[in-house]
Amino acid sequence: MSELSIAPPSAQLTLAPTTPGWSLPASYYVDERVLALELETVFLEGWLFAGHTCEVTEPGQYLLFEIGDDSVIVVRDTEGVLHAHHNVCRHRGSRIRDEPRGQVRALMCPYHQWTYGLDGQLRAARLMGDGFAKGGVRLGAVAVRELAGLVFVSLAEEPPSFAPMATAVAAQLGPHRLESARVVHRASYSVRANWKTLVENNRECYHCRSNHPEFLESNFEFGSHGDPRRNDSYDDALATAYDRWRSDGLQPADVSFPDGESFRVSRLPLRDGFVTESMDGAPVAPPMGEVGPSPGSLRLITLPTMWAHANLDYAMTTRLTPVGVDRTDVEVCFLVDADAEDSDVDLERLTTVWTATSEQDWELCEANAAGIRSRGYLPGPLSPVVEASVQHFLDWYLRRLTGSGPRTPRTSAPSA
Ligand code: FES
Ligand SMILES: [Fe+2]
Repeated sequence: MSELSIAPPSAQLTLAPTTPGWSLPASYYVDERVLALELETVFLEGWLFAGHTCEVTEPGQYLLFEIGDDSVIVVRDTEGVLHAHHNVCRHRGSRIRDEPRGQVRALMCPYHQWTYGLDGQLRAARLMGDGFAKGGVRLGAVAVRELAGLVFVSLAEEPPSFAPMATAVAAQLGPHRLESARVVHRASYSVRANWKTLVENNRECYHCRSNHPEFLESNFEFGSHGDPRRNDSYDDALATAYDRWRSDGLQPADVSFPDGESFRVSRLPLRDGFVTESMDGAPVAPPMGEVGPSPGSLRLITLPTMWAHANLDYAMTTRLTPVGVDRTDVEVCFLVDADAEDSDVDLERLTTVWTATSEQDWELCEANAAGIRSRGYLPGPLSPVVEASVQHFLDWYLRRLTGSGPRTPRTSAPSA
């Protein structure tokens, strides 16, 4: 009998020391074992943005959520309950669904046709003999939650509490009524860079002035990324906007990663004359929800994989999926009110700012990643003025990676 020595790829890993206030050593971006450890810690241990409620409203509508080697079916049942199941047949383990989205009456495995209800219960399994009790067989459950029109899943055995994010985000994102939206456009990218490079880039606007002319048409350079600089004209615009939003029934607040949590939600003013993030400031689609005539731009970040903007007339969500140590898939979705006619939506104007900004960012990230891969790379100093938010992300990341520091309270068993 032969002996097998089995260890996960991350077992032999010694993490390189890091210096607060400096970018990370190259190994964090290029070592496959770091990515393997991240999938077990950073990604497994939290809530991950999977998609939009409006993609799974009808009975049998589903979307697939993929991370690492895991695939999850998020599906609505005939009672309106949203479920998440491992996309793994309980017979011999085949993937059940392959198409990323669709609508089905039941979940039938293509291999030997075991068939599951939308609730995950095995309903039919042919030729299994009289003694086979299918009653106790069901697809593996994954925790799933809906929050103001966004769907999150957790692959953790004991998911962290969803309540802090749910409370803070629902209060601010709720009035945009994303659950009553539709996805009007979807853009997919494959970026040759480690996922952290994309998050770091998102967490600062140090690069905005010289790289994002379209974004800065409507946005102030201040405030949008937790920028601590004081600027009188921005502060005045913010104070005026907060008064207006409160009188319009909104609850503006800057909630930035409270108690080590993984989210930031904040409503920010746009430049004078801009009611949305378009090139000329004019709406590109009919208004959504109940946000008043000039709600600015609501920003949501849920680490490690998602950020979103919700405006008067459209919302944009960006989701990252690490598919390799040096490759990140990105999906950018644009949402408008579900009742908006196609003729009332100017898709060209709607996507102009974000198509330009996303492509500029991916180019910056690929150039950054190319440098990190080189033997010439050494960690460099972060700006305490405009990159404190990058440091904050790295602190959060290292805590999650190493399992150190404060952890969010645990709930009991996952449930739908
Ligand atoms: S593996 Fe699914 S039915 Fe056999
Ligand atoms: Fe950018």
